[in-house]
Amino acid sequence: MIKCIRDSYYKEAKRRGLRSRAAFKLLEISRKFSIIKKGDIVLDLGAAPGGWLQIARMLTGENGKVIGVDISPIKPLPYSNVFIIRKDVRDPSLIDDIRKISGGEVDVILSDLAPKFSGFHHLDHFRQISLVKYTISIANSLLKKHGNMVIKIIMGSEVNKLIKEISNNFNYVKLYKPKASRKHSSEIYLICKEWKEKS
Ligand SMILES: C[S@@+](CC[C@H](N)C(=O)[O-])C[C@H]1O[C@@H](n2cnc3c(N)ncnc32)[C@H](O)[C@@H]1O
Repeated sequence: MIKCIRDSYYKEAKRRGLRSRAAFKLLEISRKFSIIKKGDIVLDLGAAPGGWLQIARMLTGENGKVIGVDISPIKPLPYSNVFIIRKDVRDPSLIDDIRKISGGEVDVILSDLAPKFSGFHHLDHFRQISLVKYTISIANSLLKKHGNMVIKIIMGSEVNKLIKEISNNFNYVKLYKPKASRKHSSEIYLICKEWKEKS
């Protein structure tokens, strides 16, 4: 059954020319929680191969901007308002690179960041939470007041503490597992709306 669902998302992504089946996760999340609107400046962390970039571009339209960051290469998209930065999110010079493109802050931060999985759940959880913390630190520098954020999280012992911390900064925080996320996977998405203030 799981294989069947996976195959249907995979086939549909191929049919629509989407670079990843993960694209459907963002599409569902953004529609359900009104994350990205026309004209937004969207920052996508961990963007390769580019499925979320394609959806973000579709939702923000020609008047917005989409900036993708990844340590792996991303094939350019055929839009003048989609920008790609090949860099580690832990590199402090990234903030200036993004500001040069966005002109200042951003409306939405997306993070589908995932480390190379070791197969040891505890280790993978801690590595992934460390990437989430870099996302939050980038939000502290770049997210506009009332901006939205979507972050992938690998479930584990640190999640409750993390949600408590993040909840101080947003008016609305909710964990959500989109339909395209494999049922047996420990990934879940943290939906954060209306950034209040810098922590
Ligand atoms: C699940 S993939 C993202 C898929 C993407 N959302 C899509 O739809 O095509 C996770 C990405 O995180 C990237 N990544 C992991 N650690 C990173 C880091 N420290 N800095 C930048 N990118 C990183 C990986 O290279 C990988 O491409």
